[in-house]
Amino acid sequence: MVVQKKPPLDLSKLKVPTHMAVIMDGNGRWARKRGLPRQAGHRAGVENLRRVIDACVEFGIKILTIYAFSTENWGRPESEVRGLMRIFSHVLDQELDELHAQGVCLHHLGDLSGIDPHLQRKVLGAIELTKNNTRLILNVAFNYGGRAEILHAVQQIIADGIPPEQVTEELFSSYLFTRGLPDPDLVIRTSGEVRVSNFLIWQAAYAELYAAPEYWPDFGREALYQALLDYSQRERRYGRLPEANES
Ligand code: IPE
Ligand code: IPE
Ligand code: MG
Repeated sequence: MVVQKKPPLDLSKLKVPTHMAVIMDGNGRWARKRGLPRQAGHRAGVENLRRVIDACVEFGIKILTIYAFSTENWGRPESEVRGLMRIFSHVLDQELDELHAQGVCLHHLGDLSGIDPHLQRKVLGAIELTKNNTRLILNVAFNYGGRAEILHAVQQIIADGIPPEQVTEELFSSYLFTRGLPDPDLVIRTSGEVRVSNFLIWQAAYAELYAAPEYWPDFGREALYQALLDYSQRERRYGRLPEANES
């Protein structure tokens, strides 16, 4: 195996987000540019995920949320959906031990009941195995949609008989798949697209957004570093005035 040396990066310049979320977009276009089938793009995307997880650990990010499969992605051709499910299953087989050894704690965001039972069991097994790990929380949004998540929360709140005056933002957040976790500080979307596509629409209310030009399989450690440098220069105001203007 060829071990590639990582060029040193000046981490002292970084303000590192606690929670970073990524819309991993552009696998299909990455493949098309090379005259390859879309499935090859998805495979390259998964390889890149390994690089980005390593970089998140290196940079000190504590929570990484990735958009792997949306509720709308079922509308793709059946062969592509089947190919994606095969890749997810394969990744769990291939990468789980290494993720566990690295201290990654896996969470799932979304509706598992819509997934093949065999894959469901694998996901639940991976969550159970890694539940006490603390180095990096990896939320995998898989069969996930922000609107579906909000509807699910509303239905649960009603089913629990919570009176209206008790439905606060905190309570509502505790009914989402991300319960107990802080909101994302930064949402990155690769491939130059600038839209949310039903991702974390409640949680990202005050996230900083970053559109990376690279297709996801090309968005490696240095591209992530650039995104974090950009984030480090942002001023988060939450509707207030810049700090210098406050008296
Ligand atoms: C993102 O890449 C992966 C998934 C949505 C599963 P795409 O498959 O959307 O790639 P493009 O956008 O067609 O290039
Ligand atoms: C968003 O990408 C979903 C994932 C990355 C899993 P899409 O490629 O599905 O989004 P649209 O269709 O371009 O909005
Ligand atoms: Mg896309």
